[in-house]
Amino acid sequence: MFHPILKNILDEGIIEKKNNGTYKVERIITSPQSSQININNKKEPLLNFCSNNYLGLSNHPEIISASKLAMDKYGFGMSSVRFICGTQNIHKELENKISQFLQTEDTILFNSCFDANGGLFQNLLSEGDVIISASLNHASIIDGIRLSRAKKIVYRYDDMNDLSKQLIESKNYRIKVVITDGVFSMEGELAPLDKIVSLCEKHQALLIVDDSHATGFIGENGQGTPEYFSVQNKIDLYTSTLGKALGGAIGGYISGHRSIIDWFRNTSRPYLFSNSLSPSLVAGAIKSIDIITSQEGNQLRKNLISNTNYFRNKMKKNGFQIKEGIHPIVPIMLGDEKISIQMASDLLSEGIYVIGFSYPVVPKNEARIRVQISAIHTKYQIDLAINAFVKIGKNYGIIK
Ligand SMILES: Cc1ncc(COP(=O)(O)O)c(C=O)c1O
Repeated sequence: MFHPILKNILDEGIIEKKNNGTYKVERIITSPQSSQININNKKEPLLNFCSNNYLGLSNHPEIISASKLAMDKYGFGMSSVRFICGTQNIHKELENKISQFLQTEDTILFNSCFDANGGLFQNLLSEGDVIISASLNHASIIDGIRLSRAKKIVYRYDDMNDLSKQLIESKNYRIKVVITDGVFSMEGELAPLDKIVSLCEKHQALLIVDDSHATGFIGENGQGTPEYFSVQNKIDLYTSTLGKALGGAIGGYISGHRSIIDWFRNTSRPYLFSNSLSPSLVAGAIKSIDIITSQEGNQLRKNLISNTNYFRNKMKKNGFQIKEGIHPIVPIMLGDEKISIQMASDLLSEGIYVIGFSYPVVPKNEARIRVQISAIHTKYQIDLAINAFVKIGKNYGIIK
């Protein structure tokens, strides 16, 4: 029989989650990931406004075909970690391609960005070092820091006075590291990297940027938030994911100074003790970077900017309060937790798939619906979403 004490604890925990609206129900998609998807208990397709498919590459025919060819040529799985017998020429090709794309010295692949962040600090820093981390950083960064013996300090993610103060107070530590998300995913807000770089230079701190919500589409060439702020050569390490704009499958990486990457190949535990990325995923990711660095990539980024501006402007004109910015993550601020969950559910009934976020994922009284725009949304699809927001927003008295 399952342990009765643990069962009770879990049952109570689940009931609490159901009562406070944080219990997660997964919708089952029966089609490929795209701007329009099918889910299993709905006849009509839904317009998808909640995936990280920023450039629409998740179902791109050339990526699928590259992935299939690689499966034929290189097999299904590697059955090994990288350093035993799990490194094929395409793993090295992808690492080189990422380094070229980001203009860094070297890159190391992980099975996810969660793993990359988890393996960042454990064997890089020790007692006497300090990690100064932005308050809204991703859970994987927080966990990565927990695994390190370095001192941890949190600064308010957008407050440069606070960061400056923390750096001054950390002056006696041996190594100082500042780590920030390039884009804060609940806010759709870019970290002010130009200012962060200046502070890091002034205080001789290393800077690590997790650019998961920017790689491929922020910056003129899609090289991310450092490109957007023209500070590319000032970033010590990037971490990012292959699971969002770069084809959306799975995988992550750390890119930057060769000596640090070499150190990670020898010491980073999620790299050393976990299987290699499968060849079909690697080949798909290579193709996604080829597309991102081509004319097609330029066009997709233009579409994404145009779609994002269109949605942001029209929602504001209709009276919605949105977080200002340029990012395709657009939080529609509603405040009330129940309204945000209920509105998202009503929007789903109108064929618009969006998600409401409430405490503890976002601060109390800042509940919101997070909309994510893609380059492959048509203006017609975006208008359908806006019209549904207007209809339902009026029902709840959010707009007049
Ligand atoms: C900022 C950030 N870092 C890391 C991750 C984890 O990426 P992955 O899905 O590759 O593990 C995410 C994904 O949500 C993210 O948003």
